[in-house]
Amino acid sequence: MAFKAITILGGQGMLGADLGAIVSQRGLDVRVYDLPEFDITDDKQLEAAVSGSKVIVNCAAYTNVEKAESDVECANQINGYAVGRLGQIAKEMTVPVLHISTDFVFDGTKAESYIETDATGPVNAYGRSKLLGETLLAESGCSHCIVRLEWTYGKGGVHFITKILNAAKQRDLLKVVDDQVGSPTHTVEVARVILDLLQTETFPTGLYHCAGSGFASRYEMTRFLFDALGVQTKLVPCKTADLKSVAQRPLNSRFNCQKLETLLGRSMPTWQDMLKNYLATD
Ligand SMILES: NC(=O)c1ccc[n+]([C@@H]2O[C@H](COP(=O)([O-])OP(=O)(O)OC[C@H]3O[C@@H](n4cnc5c(N)ncnc54)[C@H](OP(=O)(O)O)[C@@H]3O)[C@@H](O)[C@H]2O)c1
Repeated sequence: MAFKAITILGGQGMLGADLGAIVSQRGLDVRVYDLPEFDITDDKQLEAAVSGSKVIVNCAAYTNVEKAESDVECANQINGYAVGRLGQIAKEMTVPVLHISTDFVFDGTKAESYIETDATGPVNAYGRSKLLGETLLAESGCSHCIVRLEWTYGKGGVHFITKILNAAKQRDLLKVVDDQVGSPTHTVEVARVILDLLQTETFPTGLYHCAGSGFASRYEMTRFLFDALGVQTKLVPCKTADLKSVAQRPLNSRFNCQKLETLLGRSMPTWQDMLKNYLATD
């Protein structure tokens, strides 16, 4: 079913803003809801947002991984229980939901890339809250699909690239982990995928993994970035265990995206091409 109007919750966030822009560019109607006017944990506001919508894309989330460790209740309310209620309301109103989730639902110990049917096992509070959202959405019985993302970056967002370039300006030497491996993914490309999913003949229910093709460690990603931008800061590989961080992180974030690619009939661009495109346009 090709939707002509799309409602985006969290539509002013990093992904939501790119999605809204692409929806408008393609000449479709877009309804955007976000803080401070819209709070996904407020049932009345949620009902009003779902009412009259043709399809909901839920990009709203508590995304501060470190802070979530000490703010578990808030993360669970936004990423978990509110998503469950979204599902219940969407079921009553027969509105399909495309929900965004994360690689952080996995523990990162698998030797290969993760497929959709792999067992989950989040290692931090953010991951547990996102898994709660996946579970409650599925239990609601609404028509839904869940698109899991990893290592996303985009215009206007605060993410690994902005943080590392900021740090490079202030230091002559940077240590970056070489034991966290994943696929850097541009939110513009994710937005295209979401829109393509919403233009398929039937609403694509179930779980999908979405990421750039190929894999890199955080160190390799930074090397690529510094070479592309001519950043002179010395780069030194280190291990996750050497760094102080409040939240534990999965070491392997690699996704197998075959299920999504088969449905869309195209491959995801490589992470290097996505990153070059981002650097050329941002
Ligand atoms: N960034 C990554 O590396 C990554 C990786 C995997 C998956 N994801 C997932 O991708 C999705 C989009 O995240 P993003 O990267 O675009 O992050 P983001 O920029 O933080 O976007 C999240 C949006 O949700 C809003 N929001 C927070 N609490 C809300 C509430 N109670 N009610 C309504 N809106 C609320 C935020 O508003 P404020 O900014 O005002 O708080 C923000 O606009 C999320 O589901 C996230 O879990 C992200």
